Amino acid sequence: MRFILLSLLLASCCLWEAVHTCASIEQRYKFPNSNVYVRLRRGDKLQYELMKGEKSLQTVTFDNFDSSANLVKTSSGSYQLTDGQSTVEFTLLLKRSVQDVQQRLKRLQDEDGIDSFKFDAGETSWLPSDPVIQASSSMVTPLQAVGDYVRTVAAFGDMVEVRSAQNTQDQPIFVRIVDKDSEWGWNNGLLTLISSMLQMNLNGYPFVLPDMIGGNGYQEKPPTKELFLRWLQANVFMPALQFSFVPWNFDDEAIAISKNFTALHATYTPYIMKLFKRAVDSGEPVNLPLWWIAPTDEVAQSIYDEFLLGEDIIAAPVVVEGATKRDIYLPEGKWKDGNSDQVYTGPTWVMDYDAPLDTLPYFMRVGFTLE
Ligand SMILES: *[C@@H]1O[C@H](CO)[C@@H](O)[C@H](O)[C@H]1NC(C)=O
Repeated sequence: MRFILLSLLLASCCLWEAVHTCASIEQRYKFPNSNVYVRLRRGDKLQYELMKGEKSLQTVTFDNFDSSANLVKTSSGSYQLTDGQSTVEFTLLLKRSVQDVQQRLKRLQDEDGIDSFKFDAGETSWLPSDPVIQASSSMVTPLQAVGDYVRTVAAFGDMVEVRSAQNTQDQPIFVRIVDKDSEWGWNNGLLTLISSMLQMNLNGYPFVLPDMIGGNGYQEKPPTKELFLRWLQANVFMPALQFSFVPWNFDDEAIAISKNFTALHATYTPYIMKLFKRAVDSGEPVNLPLWWIAPTDEVAQSIYDEFLLGEDIIAAPVVVEGATKRDIYLPEGKWKDGNSDQVYTGPTWVMDYDAPLDTLPYFMRVGFTLE
């Protein structure tokens, strides 16, 4: 029983996130037998407004649960808004069953036409600092709560996004790479996008959502145009493109280049979907390290700045600031340059491949077709 409550706390956090980040959605809850209603608005903040007709009686804005002092908290832990005659009680999901949380989210989804949710957090750090877990003897660590959280939210369909996971490789939902910084190198920058994505695939989580193109721009340091475009190129042969910084933050050239690479990603989406289906059937990765197709090739084993999509496409994005050329290793096989159609026979190095800002080097196995 206690345990169910714990994962509910997680679920409530996630609903909070979902509600909190949806732009200006409005719902109305009518008091029985009166013309007073509560208008629930979700924009930058969550706002409850007590309305009589079109007149606002009281507004309650939530920054978080603790600053909701204008609401009356009941002894059972719920919150009440009252017009003197009738009362609306908000439990904020804290003491709801998993099924109830799911039903409420489903209603939100249906009534507001929401395609999917991003379920953030869910790690054990969101549990009480000293959790008491009472459940079946098979559950031995608090980590169980993470898996239960992911399974609960995964019920909202295959576009669901989570960032936590625990023995949940069987769920065909996006798992997000945790925030990258708007940097180039091993300091949690662009270079680590590739290694993080490959590591997730090898751990059995192939539905990788690579997070924001250009990194998160923390500390008021947004990506430069060059970093943004190289990040986009690195993303093209990964499962999804997520724009938060946008090309028109930069200039017309950035827009033109971004259009081209977004289109290139769209061209290969059927292949990505095919690999997704294969991953569901067999558990095989979607994006692979080069050594996957050349396991005893010691050079392939050492390559950290190229990766495969399936077994037939090699992406070799430029991930070094200022670089307009790069060396590319091609393992055994016949490989056709995606930009020039030139065919190479591996294993071989292609040295000084010309890759100005509008060029993403990539290669297809000879004979590969999108069909
Ligand atoms: C975009 O793609 C088109 C068609 O391949 C090409 O002609 C054009 O030069 C590209 N634009 C940029 C900015 O790369």
